Amino acid sequence: MTTINSSKQKIQIDRHSGKIPHSVQKLCELCYLEHSIHRMLCGWGNQFYAWDDKVAVCSHVWDQACIVESLRNRISQFPGVTADQPVSAELESLVNTVLCAADFEDAIDGIYQIVNTVLVNRYLDFIEQVSAIHDAPTHQIIRQIVATKDLQRRWRSEYRQRVAHTTDSGYLKRISEHFEKVEYLKQPTIFDKQKTAAPLGVNTTFRPLAARIDPTWQTRSEHDVLDWIAVDFANQIEARQLFWPIGYMRELGLAMSQLHWIYDSPDMPWAFHFDESRHLWDESRHGDSGYTRMKELGITINEVGFTHSRDLLGNRETNCDGKTVKPILPTDLYESLFFIGMIAETGHFKVKREAYADFRDGGDLASAEMMLYDIIDETMHVQYAHQWLPALAKRAALDHTGYEQRASQIRKQKQLEADNRVATLKQKQKPNHESDPTYQLYMTLRDRVRSSCPLSNAASCPIRSAKPM
Ligand SMILES: [Fe+2]
Ligand SMILES: [Fe+2]
Repeated sequence: MTTINSSKQKIQIDRHSGKIPHSVQKLCELCYLEHSIHRMLCGWGNQFYAWDDKVAVCSHVWDQACIVESLRNRISQFPGVTADQPVSAELESLVNTVLCAADFEDAIDGIYQIVNTVLVNRYLDFIEQVSAIHDAPTHQIIRQIVATKDLQRRWRSEYRQRVAHTTDSGYLKRISEHFEKVEYLKQPTIFDKQKTAAPLGVNTTFRPLAARIDPTWQTRSEHDVLDWIAVDFANQIEARQLFWPIGYMRELGLAMSQLHWIYDSPDMPWAFHFDESRHLWDESRHGDSGYTRMKELGITINEVGFTHSRDLLGNRETNCDGKTVKPILPTDLYESLFFIGMIAETGHFKVKREAYADFRDGGDLASAEMMLYDIIDETMHVQYAHQWLPALAKRAALDHTGYEQRASQIRKQKQLEADNRVATLKQKQKPNHESDPTYQLYMTLRDRVRSSCPLSNAASCPIRSAKPM
């Protein structure tokens, strides 16, 4: 490549060039590496322990998805180049080495510190070397990416102040050796067209670990506090005012599962991973919205539990090592998206709209606002289900015909089961219910919410729909 005068800018074609500037190959390599980071975060992300870190990694997954999407869009604007352009298998070896850390904290340093630092340097090289006039659209994308990487760098150094760790020297050495093989990506990597990179992880024995959950966030009593809240759900707006923050808080558990939906579907098109990245980020935000509202109302996570033995979003089956989780089979992924989109998300619109209007009219605008943003997100999530279920059914060799009728029948069945649970608990009421510690907890929390944020329509609000599942 020719250098222009004294600047570091280089002409991106030579005498033998066709229609594609040399810089495009570099963009393809950067895109593969960014996509690999996205997959690494999905593979390791459920190991964060603190609430805020769990929420943060979900937002980093979405950041990464936006980086990959912007690079793919730019790459596909060059004639004859596709966003899935093959890159060297050496890059796959490199990222697999980062993925296969001996422990989670090493992986965090590998991803956030080592790989990201090299990538930022290569982005800065790109800006120096490629014309800012001819290739201004790429410059604009890279400026945004570097800003995002800087936020992640700051986040990691703040995390390391809380969670001290020394990276294993053998791990650092293995990564350095791989970077040296590809000259730290300073030049486009020459490669054999027969040996191209597969998605990160597929040629390794790496398996995600079972989710790390603070044991004090788990309730093991016979009843979940939500069971007792469900008894009054339709009749008492105060029960719903208590229900929604807790219900939303637990949606972070769904986001943790969705990390694995993405990791275990490397064969699905990027557009699916992009949509599901948004979906999981939204669910993590719903979790955080609920938790924030809980705290405002004086409710702690230890009292109500993040998980409960009857949770639908519960734990994944582990392999015989008892630590790593089994892969999500194509049928499981279809059924998971079917259940979330067609049953849970579709089935809750009515009660959410009722709660929004009732909280707004009763003067609890903070709860109403939380409901409204969620309803907007959920409308998009249901569209993802309609859009992606046909492809997931095909991938799983499942018959997808009549899926809306099937969903409608299951929603009816879930309503019946929920109504029966309520009826059983109602029979238990007076005098026996008072001895149930979960019922006592419900009463305590309801009184606390009432004094923290009284509703003007507590007595006048009409009867609404029962809890749908
Ligand atoms: Fe949600
Ligand atoms: Fe959702």
